[in-house]
Amino acid sequence: MLGAGAIGCLFASYLQRAGCTVTLLHRPGTPERTLRLELADTTTTLQLQQATVADCAPIEHLLITTKAYDVREALRSAQQKLQPDAPVVILANGMGLQEEAREDFPTLPVYCATTTQGAHRVDAGRIRHAGKGATFVGGAGTVLPPPWFAPWKMGVEDCHWDADIDSALWHKLAINCAINPLTAVHGCVNGELAEQPGLAAQVAGLCREISQVSYAAGYTATAQRIAQTAMDVIRATASNQSSMLQDVEAGRQTEINYITGYLLKVADAHGIPAPMNAALYAKVNSLGN
Ligand code: PAF
Repeated sequence: MLGAGAIGCLFASYLQRAGCTVTLLHRPGTPERTLRLELADTTTTLQLQQATVADCAPIEHLLITTKAYDVREALRSAQQKLQPDAPVVILANGMGLQEEAREDFPTLPVYCATTTQGAHRVDAGRIRHAGKGATFVGGAGTVLPPPWFAPWKMGVEDCHWDADIDSALWHKLAINCAINPLTAVHGCVNGELAEQPGLAAQVAGLCREISQVSYAAGYTATAQRIAQTAMDVIRATASNQSSMLQDVEAGRQTEINYITGYLLKVADAHGIPAPMNAALYAKVNSLGN
């Protein structure tokens, strides 16, 4: 696997528990790490085998859990050891990643995953599983779960094969478009988007545009539900800082190009104006990350 963030480590532990040999690929010179994983009922120590791409065995299955903007480079970095038919699963925010991977590696079977599992890093060596959620995996035109999915099904709670993964990814993207950039620009926790009338009106405006783009792109269920779903997620995660706000506060690059940026590309392709989303996209980019 590539990407040792909180979600990556959580999935590494699930897959290891299901009997997979998981190796965390890291850059040369990175110190070996033992991670303490705080699950709801136990604290376990996650002993991950670690190696550089140069030192590792041939890669038969690759899980990428990096930030969206690092996925392309991560995949390229593994190229020398990647077996020609190795399934690659990208578990990252946003959309457009599968297309980029196909541009670089047209014959590689690339799949995507999306999860509502919550995990965060408490400190350098500790990861806390903050909330249970569902995980959907699919892609590469594969309707039925392929054999490699068996340990996912076994080790990851509430994990499902999704023959229409693009709709699941789009639905998550739509929610992220309605919440993340606004919280990043206003420096507020999610709940304020419901509490402050001015911000709630902006969420509604963004959702109207997102709904029109969703209809045009054929994501009807999202088009019909996004306004209500966005408010439900805002209330359910009221005290959370969105991942984009966390990135801005930590001085990291944001994933805006793969979230609102992707929405705007789809809007453009269908000739749908999305001025509120475009303005927020420009504002987040001007935050300098
Ligand atoms: O990206 C995030 O932070 C989350 O997906 C969510 C729920 C939209 C905001 O906390």
